[in-house]
Amino acid sequence: MKYLFGFVLIGLILFALLPGCAQEAAKIRIATDATWPPFEYVDEETMEIVGFDIDLMTAIAEKEDLDIEFVNVAWDPLLAGMAQCTYDAAISSITILPERAEEMLFSDPYFEAGQLVAVRIDNTDIASKDDLGGKVVGAQIGTTGSFEVEKIAGATLKTYDDIGLAFQDLMNGQIDAVIADSPLTLGYVGRNPDKLKTAGEVFTSEFYGIAVCKTNTELLEKINSGLAAVIDEGLIEELIDKWLVGQ
Ligand code: ARG
Repeated sequence: MKYLFGFVLIGLILFALLPGCAQEAAKIRIATDATWPPFEYVDEETMEIVGFDIDLMTAIAEKEDLDIEFVNVAWDPLLAGMAQCTYDAAISSITILPERAEEMLFSDPYFEAGQLVAVRIDNTDIASKDDLGGKVVGAQIGTTGSFEVEKIAGATLKTYDDIGLAFQDLMNGQIDAVIADSPLTLGYVGRNPDKLKTAGEVFTSEFYGIAVCKTNTELLEKINSGLAAVIDEGLIEELIDKWLVGQ
């Protein structure tokens, strides 16, 4: 009888602990390729993932009471992972594209960007993307920047897993230009004013959205309602001031 009581007690304790375990397992996994400053990158001092997108997603999660964690994944596996629902959602400066929308859900747009060309400061023959025929142009693999290079007749696309390496190659003279999202390109040029400059104007118009696993419309609705609430409060303007102005 004593033993039986002991077993029942242990059973009861385990049962009481269960919800705690279940709750921890329920964290919402948000993928991000933290190599894209100032939207998502790893702060070298704190080693934490920071940026415009991280602040935005954190604010949305607070509004909607979502228990989130960020998972740092390279761009290519991030998109593949979203198509497989390996992650619940992703915030990563993702341009909303019809082809992508076949594989994942997208939130309402939260930011407009476009493609911008960077060249070395001493370059004299590239004034815009129209001068890139016969040139080697770097872009991150699978991004809208790389799709734009593919459209330029005679340009050779060199793809990189990490856009930082493309800018490195550009500064070292290995490639002639880089095409990437305007806020990112402006940041690299701003941090290397003696080595880089932009060539021409921003030449596409794209909208960033938060990607959500295709079967999780409930999460999409929460993200959209949280996004609308923080947009109403002026958060986007605040984040532009914090992360983009003067970079
Ligand atoms: N906006 C571009 C695209 O969707 C590039 C995004 C890359 N983002 C990143 N975190 N690496 O194709």
